Amino acid sequence: MSTTAAGVKTEKETGTLEVRDTRTGATYEMPILPRGTEGDVAVRGMDLRQIKVESGEFGTMSYDPAFMNTASCMSAITYIDGEAGILRYRGYPIEQIAEGSTFLETAWLLRNGELPTRQEYDKWENDIRYHTYVHENIRKFLEGFRYDAHPMSMLCSTVAAMSSFYPDAKDIHDPENRNIQIIRLLAKIPTLAAFAFRHIRGMPFIYPDNDLGYVENFLSMLNRMTEPRYEPRPSFVKALEVLFILHADHEQNASTTAVRAVGSTQVDPFSAIAAGVAALFGPLHGGANEQVLRMIQEIGHVKNVPALIDEVKDGKKRLMGFGHRVYKSYDPRARIVKQLADEVFKETGVDSDLEIALELERIALSDDYFVSRKLYPNVDFYTGLIYRSMGFPTEFFTVLFAVARTAGWLSQWEEMLMDKEQKIARPRQIYIGHGERKYASLL
Ligand code: ACO
Repeated sequence: MSTTAAGVKTEKETGTLEVRDTRTGATYEMPILPRGTEGDVAVRGMDLRQIKVESGEFGTMSYDPAFMNTASCMSAITYIDGEAGILRYRGYPIEQIAEGSTFLETAWLLRNGELPTRQEYDKWENDIRYHTYVHENIRKFLEGFRYDAHPMSMLCSTVAAMSSFYPDAKDIHDPENRNIQIIRLLAKIPTLAAFAFRHIRGMPFIYPDNDLGYVENFLSMLNRMTEPRYEPRPSFVKALEVLFILHADHEQNASTTAVRAVGSTQVDPFSAIAAGVAALFGPLHGGANEQVLRMIQEIGHVKNVPALIDEVKDGKKRLMGFGHRVYKSYDPRARIVKQLADEVFKETGVDSDLEIALELERIALSDDYFVSRKLYPNVDFYTGLIYRSMGFPTEFFTVLFAVARTAGWLSQWEEMLMDKEQKIARPRQIYIGHGERKYASLL
């Protein structure tokens, strides 16, 4: 075993890669990096740079649009085996965490690497509970949004705006300072999300109730009306707790990559997390849960499912909630979500949209188009249906995802800062535009 600059334990070097350049006949040796815990193998991209025809040349780069085969960091947080459908946080299988943990315990685990002791957990929970209030000016700021503003736009802007309320947050190299900003972000993001929800509904903002747990308080800020104390349904609290755990981290996905890239400039964490919220908003990422429900509503009836499947197979549409860059077998989160959906629907009732979803899944799992491309339902396929049956409007689904993913973004951001190998993220390009030409105005 050896330890990398990121503090990650890896096995010893496994050998070298020999590369022969047919242009020059030269042979180059590149050390294969120490294997990751689960056997991941890589060579350093920078080792390609030595491959040149002329000594003055820049050297060879690797070309990898969309980072299909590029490891951007060494990380000890989350492990995914996409072929086997495995997801683990800090070594613990997601199924076990979803069964036994709470969201805040999971957030601690992701950040600290170990499960908290009772004392650590109580302090962590208490700290987060007492930082849930936001500055009154944020309220005013939110009131400036139109009634039909998308809550993800509101969330993204208010998270970014928080950096102006906490200018001390830019002191990212001080561990104490990082700690308080992490607590603030985890504590305040449900408040910002709930305020955005109330705004689009034209309802008065409900302030946090610090006697309540994380999820209960969130539900109270979303739903409380005139009652002195909101009593959420225990099944909804349980469902949201599990959904938050399932969404808490997913290694180097698009939004986490955005957080790491923006964070690598050494900006404050509010600005870095706002970048994550922006990336998550996209329909190919966190926005997919919203799109799944829109797609189901467009289908309208089970009898129209085959026609949609034909359109998808003709390349006219994508089946939202299906497919994943990493999972090439069943997304383990989707399996848990499906079970959860059964429990929630027992209380709220099964509707025609669920029938359509089940039929879509049935056809897609038996159709060669989907089978041959290894397109399985992902976590977003059923989450929208659960959220809707809990009374959330469609445009709020991705916000729920963002609240949960904040735990992962923060852990990944801090790991990136601690990693001595990381620098400002700055990819190269292969320039394919004009060569030099003389300016001559056409005006
Ligand atoms: N419906 C139909 N066909 C699909 C789908 C889909 N949902 N996803 C992929 N394909 C097809 C592609 O057309 C392609 O077919 P081809 O080989 O004939 O050209 C093949 O499967 C491979 O697809 P890629 O686009 O190369 O896969 P990639 O890994 O780049 O995309 C992604 C992954 C973005 C998730 C994609 O599957 C997709 O768009 N899914 C729908 C959106 C979605 O559900 N996103 C949520 C992801 S989970 C999350 O972010 C929380």
